[in-house]
Amino acid sequence: MTPDPTIAEAVAVLKSGELVAFPTETVYGLGADAANPEAVKKIYAAKGRPRNHPLIVHVARVDQIGAWVARMSPAAQRLAERYWPGPLTLIMKRAAHVNDLVTGGQDTIALRVPSHGIANALLAGFGGGIAAPSANRYGRVSATTAAHVRSEFGDLVGCILDGGPSTVGIESTIVDVSGDAPALLRPGHITAREIEAVLGTPLAAPGGESPRAPGTLAKHYAPQTPLMVIEADLVLELAGSMTRQGHKVAVLARSALQPLLNGVTWVAAPADAAGYAHDLYANLRALDAAGCSAILVEQPPLDAAWAAVADRLMRAAAGSASPDAT
Ligand code: TXA
Ligand code: MG
Repeated sequence: MTPDPTIAEAVAVLKSGELVAFPTETVYGLGADAANPEAVKKIYAAKGRPRNHPLIVHVARVDQIGAWVARMSPAAQRLAERYWPGPLTLIMKRAAHVNDLVTGGQDTIALRVPSHGIANALLAGFGGGIAAPSANRYGRVSATTAAHVRSEFGDLVGCILDGGPSTVGIESTIVDVSGDAPALLRPGHITAREIEAVLGTPLAAPGGESPRAPGTLAKHYAPQTPLMVIEADLVLELAGSMTRQGHKVAVLARSALQPLLNGVTWVAAPADAAGYAHDLYANLRALDAAGCSAILVEQPPLDAAWAAVADRLMRAAAGSASPDAT
């Protein structure tokens, strides 16, 4: 364990083929030297993630992208220019040398230039690409603080850079720009509408042609406690009847007006979509730790600004409906 590592120490750890957890503006990443297959294998082992689930390669600057891709389409160039560094991941045709462990054997690669100061200092110091999934066990809630990473991995990850809470709080928007029709593979802080405005064309729905994005499997981002997303009125009704039956109930509410019910752990989420996303995973972790029979999540608004939050909640809930989905 390296207590409070410096950037230089973290760079040395990466160069020695070991893992470094680091903050990004979206969520914390669990990084390895993307050019070292033995190091990348340690990511899959630590997360318990299947080997065919590809990783995102992070680089410090846009001009390093060329080393990882066969070509950058005009759509990729436009999006990179507008949103990098930032919370956007682009899927492009891979360069021939890229290891299959990074791409899950696909002919495409996911790339991102993050905007977080510590991530950038680490990437600049390292010089190469850092393969990094979110720093959580497979299928679980992503980590948005160094403490979350520690609680996920304990001593298994010896080097954790602490950059405080991630500002965005949910994973990057993923756009597939490897083919003719750009497609949204994962909604995020940068919305589909913003992407379409830059491209000047509507995004295609991810179809059979699109590469696999296993983070988009139904069950993902899930707490251990069963989770349900329900309408505001039903939250109170269900919490009432469950507590009367002697259950403890956790509620992720949109109102700070907590009902007078014994056995309810109540967290009031921020009213705006960005604030809600920022706190989402920390809130789910806190509610998961409260030892309740269920987490009831009050349905957030249905408009486009909330699409990424709705996506993550749907996947967290799907985990409860079918525990063996992934
Ligand atoms: O915000 C983020 O994107 C964070 C930070 C650390 O950068 N990373 C992250 O990584 O969320 P991960 O591994 O948890 O999610 C990456 C997603 C997965 O759903 C994966 O399947 C998809 O990206 N992906 C990676 N390579 C791909 C490819 N070649 N084609 C399609 N999807 C790909
Ligand atoms: Mg993940």
